[in-house]
Amino acid sequence: MPFIHVPKSWQLPERVVTSEAAFLQRRRFLKALTGFSIAGSALALAGCQSKQATGDTAPIAGTKALEAISNPAFVDADRPITNELIAATYNNFYEFGGNKSIWQNAQALPTDPWKVEVTGLVNNPRVFDLDDLLNFPLEERIYRFRCVEAWAMVVPWLGFPMSALMKAVEPTSNAKFVRFTSYFDPQVTKGPGFPPVQFLPFPYTEGLRIEEMANELAFFAVGIYGHTLPKQHGAPIRAVLPWKYGFKGAKSIVKIEFISTQPATYWNTISPGEYKFESNVDPQVPHPRWSQAKERLISPGGQFAWEEVPTLKYNGYGEYVASLYS
Ligand code: MTE
Repeated sequence: MPFIHVPKSWQLPERVVTSEAAFLQRRRFLKALTGFSIAGSALALAGCQSKQATGDTAPIAGTKALEAISNPAFVDADRPITNELIAATYNNFYEFGGNKSIWQNAQALPTDPWKVEVTGLVNNPRVFDLDDLLNFPLEERIYRFRCVEAWAMVVPWLGFPMSALMKAVEPTSNAKFVRFTSYFDPQVTKGPGFPPVQFLPFPYTEGLRIEEMANELAFFAVGIYGHTLPKQHGAPIRAVLPWKYGFKGAKSIVKIEFISTQPATYWNTISPGEYKFESNVDPQVPHPRWSQAKERLISPGGQFAWEEVPTLKYNGYGEYVASLYS
């Protein structure tokens, strides 16, 4: 993340977006109807059908509606949900480019078939395919999302807690850390352009302490806004850790290894003074080149804009995670 890149004048035309009010109203309707929210099924299809005719939903084309139970602990992030098409067109995915406008390049990612190898210090090593991943009981969680570059969003993810995967593979008592590895094929993931891809520590890797992985908040997302992940968000499976800076959430994961020592990670290898292994959101610890005291909350409306708000320690999730760091 060498630079903060914010295309100030860029905006999506009003007509391409579903207002968040409409989105939330439909969710409430589904909830009232069923007693729990069937995330997406009706709303994603309705949204796609009405817009695909004009091609306006291109950034989320090819996604499929997913069913999930709304987790009542995470239905309200205390802030408005970010507009879906803005979230889908303002991304970090360095395998596909060094700026925020990588969504078209990311369509080159081959996501079906997909395999995630879970290996290392576990009793039940296993390879999960796409169906296996979608067969975990899925829930919707609306989480605050904070990038180390000081922009923030609020995103409705669909997926399952990391603890569910841990239960399936049973890490041994020697497993102290986990390493996530993202998809990498230099023919497909050509990198940011400069520096050339061969000079960067790809594949992208990230890691956690095992206690962090077992925390209730730690989540694998297989969907967003009621449907499968668009490629630019890290299809078909990515990590989501809402109390940490966004770069900890590796996208398009192909390997999960349980290991005994702290792993090297992509950004920490590039710039250890700027991107720490722990990287919990903290307004009082500035990035060496900018303050983290405030963040630019990217707006719910269809027009690209932001509101400056104070940064919250642990991104406001201290009640869940503070004890991990006492
Ligand atoms: N994962 C991979 N493989 N490659 C990346 O470049 N960028 C990270 C994270 N995961 C990144 C990644 C950063 S810096 C952020 S802020 C988030 O993805 C952005 O997620 P989003 O584009 O879905 O909002």
